[in-house]
Amino acid sequence: MRNTLLSLVLAASAVLAQSSFGPDHNTTSIIGTWSSGTQQVVPGQGFANPAQTSFTYPKTPGVGYAFSDDGWYELARYRFAANGSHPECIIGTVVWAHGHYDLLQNGSIVLTPAGDGYQQVQSPCTKDHDSNFIQNYNDTELFIDWRIFNTVAFGPKLHLFQYDGSPVAPMFRLSEQPNMLPKQKLRNVAQTVVTTTSDGLVSTETLVSRKRERRAAEPRGWGAFWPW
Ligand SMILES: *[C@@H]1O[C@H](CO)[C@@H](O)[C@H](O)[C@H]1NC(C)=O
Ligand SMILES: *[C@@H]1O[C@H](CO)[C@@H](O)[C@H](O)[C@H]1NC(C)=O
Ligand SMILES: *[C@@H]1O[C@H](CO)[C@@H](O)[C@H](O)[C@H]1NC(C)=O
Ligand SMILES: *[C@@H]1O[C@H](CO)[C@@H](O)[C@H](O)[C@H]1NC(C)=O
Repeated sequence: MRNTLLSLVLAASAVLAQSSFGPDHNTTSIIGTWSSGTQQVVPGQGFANPAQTSFTYPKTPGVGYAFSDDGWYELARYRFAANGSHPECIIGTVVWAHGHYDLLQNGSIVLTPAGDGYQQVQSPCTKDHDSNFIQNYNDTELFIDWRIFNTVAFGPKLHLFQYDGSPVAPMFRLSEQPNMLPKQKLRNVAQTVVTTTSDGLVSTETLVSRKRERRAAEPRGWGAFWPW
């Protein structure tokens, strides 16, 4: 019994120790456009319009990444976070960001944003006008590990694992070309305003998005929250 446990522990640490970057990571190149689930959330044209700090909402939630051969990435993400104590208070977020990625020798990926990313947050249970707002999004993302598998039915499938080991929804390759907006700063984020909403969310907004936020917040309720 003790031996079995020990060998299990050894096997587990061998798996961890093996995760340096190598050919088993990518049976095909990571370069291209990837999208999860029903593949409605796709980076590039048709998702975010940074000049307007706006989004075209996809039909269904999901996540998409594009990676170029010259080290640029773009993220598109649309998701809902449940609130355990109030199941009806689902918070929806739509995120767009782009910047530089590095495939590290230890098998991790680091995504360093260019600083012009933004997200829209919609929380239907918030009682004030800040239930729908846009804020800057400039989070550096670390994926501790990644793998690409080839599936017979759907072709290459990319798995990314977050810093805590939790997996991102598997993504399928839409194209070998990276679908992305121009690889440069696309939005001026110089002027920011920090506000705290009644539910404790802190938002850092540009003056432009602050104006839009008031307009966007006009229609209240589920009709505005569910975009389809
Ligand atoms: C795996 O990725 C590395 C780094 O991008 C690249 O040099 C290599 O050619 C890739 N392998 C395949 C099979 O595409
Ligand atoms: C859940 O919703 C309640 C009511 O709106 C709110 O007070 C609480 O902060 C929310 N919790 C999370 C984790 O969002
Ligand atoms: C790889 O290196 C980066 C940067 O030092 C670090 O943050 C990450 O945790 C490392 N990954 C693993 C699997 O050790
Ligand atoms: C965005 O994050 C990157 C990486 O941490 C940082 O270098 C850059 O200054 C940030 N940009 C803004 C506008 O905050």
